[in-house]
Amino acid sequence: MHRLLKRQLNQARNPDGSGVSYERLLKLVNDAYRENEANRARADRANEVMADELSEMLAIKERATSLETAKRVAESANLAKSQFIANMSHELRTPLNAIIGYTEMLIEEAVAEGRERQLSDHENILRSAQGLLRLINEVLDLSKIESGKLNIEIEEFHVGEVVFDAIADVRPAAAANGTELIVEIADSDMTLRSDPYRLSQCLRNLLSNAVKFTADGRVTLRVWREEQASGSFFNIVITDTGIGMSPEQLARVLSPFEQGDGSITRKYGGTGLGLTITQQIARLLGGDIIIESELNHGTSAKLMLRADLDRLRSAA
Ligand SMILES: Nc1ncnc2c1ncn2[C@@H]1O[C@H](COP(=O)(O)OP(=O)(O)O)[C@@H](O)[C@H]1O
Ligand SMILES: [Mg+2]
Repeated sequence: MHRLLKRQLNQARNPDGSGVSYERLLKLVNDAYRENEANRARADRANEVMADELSEMLAIKERATSLETAKRVAESANLAKSQFIANMSHELRTPLNAIIGYTEMLIEEAVAEGRERQLSDHENILRSAQGLLRLINEVLDLSKIESGKLNIEIEEFHVGEVVFDAIADVRPAAAANGTELIVEIADSDMTLRSDPYRLSQCLRNLLSNAVKFTADGRVTLRVWREEQASGSFFNIVITDTGIGMSPEQLARVLSPFEQGDGSITRKYGGTGLGLTITQQIARLLGGDIIIESELNHGTSAKLMLRADLDRLRSAA
């Protein structure tokens, strides 16, 4: 016999043990029935709650799966875009290099034969072609950075050489703008383990900005090494006395294709890629850039790089 029923029958016995009272039995059975009903209702409610929770969990899982799929699709589209840009850049650069090479030859001939009017036309072609080549190279670099394919080649080199080469590059533009160039380097024999080509690219980007946005002013480049708890660092600060930036402009300019404002593009040209690329390269070289600026007073760009990169890499 069922244990519960047995207990109930025992409880329903008359106090003198002389059998079972019908009323008491009926009451006990009714009570048990009601309790049973209440239990069933509670179980039904619990089941409903569980079913709701389960379907909510399923919906969350479905959303996560579709997000994951969307992410994979976006990533592969991004990769396809980067590959397309890399291929296109190559196809564009080859004929452009031919245009530049032939124009340089035409310029030499025009100079030799004293053809002044043609000379300035040729120079215009050369400037435009070089500008286009710069843009293509920048877009290519950005797509390489985005797809994680920018090559970094670490070697030991003298910092002074890279710094003075970059300075020599912007000297004509600074002279044309009436701007003085000052280099403060305590020890130009100082060596560094990093990527000299990429360092040079960063320096040229920062220096060309400083010179481009400064007329009749001063551009100062200061170099020093710094030992920190996290390692050996190499700092370059380029300060100019040029047009500067408002806080709103400053907040934008490290994003790709962003320039201070629309008038900058009209007046100074450019694409707004230089600082983005510089920052990404600096990060790949174990550092970063920090830009500070005051509108109408000038700008200072600090480039910090690890000075001992191979150790960083092997430690990683
Ligand atoms: N030294 C500077 N002085 C004033 N503005 C600057 C300076 N450097 C950068 N900027 C601002 O940041 C923008 C982005 O710079 P960059 O990424 O090098 O692009 P680009 O030189 O092609 O315009 C510039 O268009 C300019 O508005
Ligand atoms: Mg620039």
